[in-house]
Amino acid sequence: MAGRPVRVAILGFGTVGSSLARILCERKLPDVELCCIFNRGVARKRVPWVPSSVVWTEHFDEVLAAGPDIVVEAAGGLEPAGEWVRKALAAGKSVVTANKKLIAFHGPALEALAKHHGCQLLYGAAVAGGVPVIPGVQQGLAGDRIHTLRAILNGTCNFILSNMEEGMGFDAALKQAQSLGYAEADPTEDVDGFDARAKLVILSRIGLRIEVQPEEIACRTIRDLAAIDFAYARDLDCTIRQISRAEVRNGELFATVGPMLVPRSSPLSWSRGTENMVISGGQYGGETVFSGHGAGGHPTAVAVLSDVLAIAHGGCLVAITGTRAKVDSD
Ligand code: HSE
Repeated sequence: MAGRPVRVAILGFGTVGSSLARILCERKLPDVELCCIFNRGVARKRVPWVPSSVVWTEHFDEVLAAGPDIVVEAAGGLEPAGEWVRKALAAGKSVVTANKKLIAFHGPALEALAKHHGCQLLYGAAVAGGVPVIPGVQQGLAGDRIHTLRAILNGTCNFILSNMEEGMGFDAALKQAQSLGYAEADPTEDVDGFDARAKLVILSRIGLRIEVQPEEIACRTIRDLAAIDFAYARDLDCTIRQISRAEVRNGELFATVGPMLVPRSSPLSWSRGTENMVISGGQYGGETVFSGHGAGGHPTAVAVLSDVLAIAHGGCLVAITGTRAKVDSD
């Protein structure tokens, strides 16, 4: 890759894949070149703003034939996304994915495969969308011993609950979250807690260094909540959020996902819309808060592109080549 841009292929031209292409086309980064877009029924996906050099295809073999250095998997779900990721890694291509389900269930095996083939697998977008919580925990807090994670990990649920707090009904809020592209293809994943649970599994793995299977974590749905619950919560000076919790006590993991009363004094209660928040508790460093947009095309695509750039730069910090600005002291 030395001396030339890294070539990127995108698998899946939905909310995240198309946002990534849009950012690449707008930013015109000299070190990243979009070479291929793969989607089922690709003809209906074509857009005029992508350079004519980009190959559009619905055949996976043509993706590898387009010569990417990095394959971005933005299709989601366990299969066939898993098969594509395995094929890309086996062909020596690094993979960047936003696929929390795939990483929650198969992350360690896929990382081993990447290592075996001398390439990388990065998934910063899989947890909390645009919030850099994975690199933050993995690198920024590597020196601590994290024992607790309290988090809002699903943008759709947070969007629904923060709107219900303002008086909107559950169905209307869910419909809006779907139309804005926040919800999963099957929104059961969001409202019943499975999406947040997959993210909690990944965070527990990298933050608490505990391997847990998604099915081992109990989930409760938010779909039974009604306006009366928010009224009771208000009386207690609380609100309601979908909270994911994981805590290590004496080497044992306690973890749950579900709606909880959150005191107004807690930063978790301040999150609105698609905001996600992770509060990690460390033995030496105390509490650290990560927050920002956890769903939506552009924030998630930013996290994907940051992983692409990390691979392009060999894990080194990106050189800052800004233009000089006049400094005004007023
Ligand atoms: N459906 C997910 C959410 C998308 O609402 O958080 C981002 O992972």
